[in-house]
Amino acid sequence: MAITYQSPIKFNNFSPISPSYPISNNFTNLKFRFCPSPVSSKTHTHITIPEPEPVFTSVKSFAPATIANLGPGFDFLGCAVDGIGDFITLKIDPNVRPGQLLISNINGDNGRLTKDPLHNCAGIAAFCVMKMLNVQSVGLSISLEKGLPLGSGLGSSAASAAAAAVAVNEIFGRKLSVDQLVLAGLESETKVSGYHADNIAPSIMGGFVLVRSYDPLELIPLKFPYDKDLFFVLVNPEFEAPTKKMRAALPPEVTMSHHIWNCSQAGALVAAILQGDSRGLGKALSSDKIVEPRRGPLIPGMEGVKKAALEAGAFGCTISGAGPTLVAVTDEEEKGREIGERMVEAFMKEGNLKALAMVKKLDPVGARLVSSNLR
Ligand code: HSE
Repeated sequence: MAITYQSPIKFNNFSPISPSYPISNNFTNLKFRFCPSPVSSKTHTHITIPEPEPVFTSVKSFAPATIANLGPGFDFLGCAVDGIGDFITLKIDPNVRPGQLLISNINGDNGRLTKDPLHNCAGIAAFCVMKMLNVQSVGLSISLEKGLPLGSGLGSSAASAAAAAVAVNEIFGRKLSVDQLVLAGLESETKVSGYHADNIAPSIMGGFVLVRSYDPLELIPLKFPYDKDLFFVLVNPEFEAPTKKMRAALPPEVTMSHHIWNCSQAGALVAAILQGDSRGLGKALSSDKIVEPRRGPLIPGMEGVKKAALEAGAFGCTISGAGPTLVAVTDEEEKGREIGERMVEAFMKEGNLKALAMVKKLDPVGARLVSSNLR
């Protein structure tokens, strides 16, 4: 589905925002790359939509972790993972100036995230949705509960952005389309980690999502039909990998032979997803010859951990997102636990890193409302 948006504008065009709260600046001069002036979500034309009335006084939302870059799917294929993610509580707040946004509280980040809404992933996405909805009459405050470690390769920034975008949309009666919410999340991802939608799209939509094109944004949900047979073993070492640094490690050009190889593996991966074939999915996901060879050496022990996963019977293993978490694929939970143990041991032996293993299923739903209070 196509969405019209304004021509790209660099983020350093933002006016400086005072860190004192409630926010005192007039936001109307701020320019966003993807969130346009309010548009009709049906026609995608620039027709101003009337400011919606809030339906709730407060809402709580959840957005799941994601595995981006599924093997050869760099920047275009990701999926949502069940049971771990971030929560947002959003309120209509009479103490916040109309049209403005306050981040009142952040838990679970060890004090590392900024509460400046224009530099915080949740704040950027929430404010973008407010702008899309033309919110002028009420102020909002958000509280963020981080369930995901920062810089882990589990889509931590995208989960905050997805939960925030969905919360704002829900409090105003769900006026925006999923694609518009993804654009709001992409605004946030571009600012904090890089221009890629393979975390934000599955975090909002659930399941596997293929980003077919960025301009215009075209997203293809891919249904894995037998998800009872699909388990992800996620092994997160005590090591942080800033996405921007991992993106800088990528080759500026690729050879024709690597292009052909990666495209055929990506095709095989999509086929495996649609056929519900976890073995084929694991094999294709393990086969990237472009990104993994550059990023792997930046994660201590990565090669040995992948080898350990495959020797323990995993169908495949690669870096989750920009790392350092590694993801292996299997079709049984118990097998997943064994593979996870071997991978944790290998991280210590090969990389001298402590690591934690989790066995997770697909999250088919994506970001959602978990509770609400009617006005
Ligand atoms: N596609 C992105 C990257 C995902 O690998 O840089 C980051 O989680």
